[in-house]
Amino acid sequence: MATALIILGAGMGTRMNSDMPKVLHEIAGAPMLVHAMKSGAALDPARTVIVAGHGAALVEKAAKAYEPDVAVAIQTEQLGTAHAVDQARDALKGFSGDALVLYGDTPFIRPETLAAMTAARLTHDIVVLGFEALDAGRYGRLIMKDDQLDRIVEFKDATDDERAVTLCNSGVIAADNATLFDLISAVGNDNASGEYYLTDIIAIARARGMSATVVRCDESETLGINSRAELSKAEALFQMQARTAAQADGVTLTAPETVFFAHDTVVGRDTVVEPNVVFGPGVTVESGATIRAFSHLEGCHVSRGAVVGPYARLRPGAELAENVKVGNFVEIKNAQIADGAKVNHLSYIGDATIGARSNIGAGTITCNYDGVFKHKTTIGEDTFIGSNTMLVAPVTVGDAAMTGSGSVVTKDVPPGDLAVARAKQENKAGFAVRLFEKLKARKAKGS
Ligand code: UD1
Ligand code: CA
Repeated sequence: MATALIILGAGMGTRMNSDMPKVLHEIAGAPMLVHAMKSGAALDPARTVIVAGHGAALVEKAAKAYEPDVAVAIQTEQLGTAHAVDQARDALKGFSGDALVLYGDTPFIRPETLAAMTAARLTHDIVVLGFEALDAGRYGRLIMKDDQLDRIVEFKDATDDERAVTLCNSGVIAADNATLFDLISAVGNDNASGEYYLTDIIAIARARGMSATVVRCDESETLGINSRAELSKAEALFQMQARTAAQADGVTLTAPETVFFAHDTVVGRDTVVEPNVVFGPGVTVESGATIRAFSHLEGCHVSRGAVVGPYARLRPGAELAENVKVGNFVEIKNAQIADGAKVNHLSYIGDATIGARSNIGAGTITCNYDGVFKHKTTIGEDTFIGSNTMLVAPVTVGDAAMTGSGSVVTKDVPPGDLAVARAKQENKAGFAVRLFEKLKARKAKGS
C-alpha cells in the first residue's frame, strides 16, 4: 500500500534555547529532521509532507536538500498535534493510501518498527506506536480495553489510575489517509492544555466502530529531543549504535569509544580504524583500508588497501584509489589520487589529479587559489615531486617528470623532464667561520 509521511516539526523547541529551529539541530552531521525522514524512507513513501512553523524557510531548505520532492506545510500557530497534522490536509488531498505521522524531533525509529506498524494496519484501522516507559513522566498513556487500544489520555488530563499506566504514546501513528483527516476534523480543544490533540482521534475512531491497536518498540527508539543535554545524549546513543554496527560489519575499531561516525558513513570489511578518527558526512571507505589515528574525513572516498594518517585530513572531493598512502599532516581537497601514489608528509593537495605511483615529497603544496579563482594542478604517472615544491596552478607536470626540492613551479613540466625552479646555490669559502668570529666578538663587547 502507498504511504504518505507527515513529519511534525513546527514546535518552537524553547528548551533548546536557540535561534535555529529545533529539528535542524544535528546528530551525526545531519539535522534530526533528516534522521526522521530517513526512518520514514524505510516505507518508501509516495509523498512526504513536513509541517514547519518556527524557522519554516530554514526547515524547508534542509528538508529539500535531503529530499527535493518533499512538500512543506506551514503551521503558523502551534495549536496542538492534531492541528499540526491538519496543515498537511491540502498537500495530501486525494491521496489514496496510508498516512504515517512522525515527529521531526524523534530520530531513532527503526525501519523494522515501521514495517511492524504497516503489518498491523492490515488488521486494524489505526495503529499507534507505544513503548513501556521506565519512567512514564508526562507522556500520553495508552489505555487498552480487551485487546484494542481504547483511547490515549494526555498526562495533564489523566486520573491517578491512568497515570499509573506505563504503556506510553510515542506519537507515531498510522491510518488510512482519508480516515485520518476525517477523524481530525472531529477533534476539539476542550482539555487541560486547550490544544487540539492528535491523540483524541483514537477515542473518536473507537466510538465510530473502528479498531485500533498498539505496536510496541523499545523506549530508546522513541527518544525525543527537547534540550541540548538530550541532543548530546542522542548523539552518544547514535555513536554507540554506529560503532556496534561497524564492528558487526567486520570493521576493526581499536578504540571504538573514540571514533565518531556520520549518519551516512560507509566503511568496508576488514578496514582498520585507529583511535580518535572523525567521519564527517559523505564518507565511503572500501574494504581493507587503514584509517590511522587522529584523522578527519569528510565527503571523500578511500579505496581498498589505502592508508590514511595518522593526522590526515580528507576534505570533500578527495578520491583515493587503491593502495594510496596519505600520511601525517596532509590535507587533500577535491583531488583524485591514482593507484599507489603517495603523499606522505606535510602537504596540501587541492583541486588536483595525481597519476598512479607518483611520489609527492614532504611539504609539497598545490597553490590552487589566486585570491579570486581556484585553479587545477595536474600531475602525471610515476612522477617524483621534490620536497617543498610549490605547484602554482594552473600547472601540469607530465608523466615520469621530476621537480627539484624547493622549486616554485609556475610553468608546465613536459613528461620525463626535471624542473628546477629555485635560486642557484653559491658556496663562499670560509665565510661562515669569519662571520661567527665577528658575531662572537660583538657579543663579548656586550653590544
Ligand atoms: C505528544 C503526545 C503524547 C506523547 C508525546 C511523545 C499529543 C497531544 N501528545 O506530547 O501523547 O506521549 O508526544 O513525545 O499528541 N508539534 C507541532 N505543532 C504543534 C504541536 C506540536 O508541529 O502545534 C510538533 C512538535 O514540534 C513535536 C511534536 O509535534 O515535534 C510533538 O509535540 P509536543 O508538544 O512535544 O508533544 P507532547 O506534549 O510531548
Ligand atoms: Ca515532546
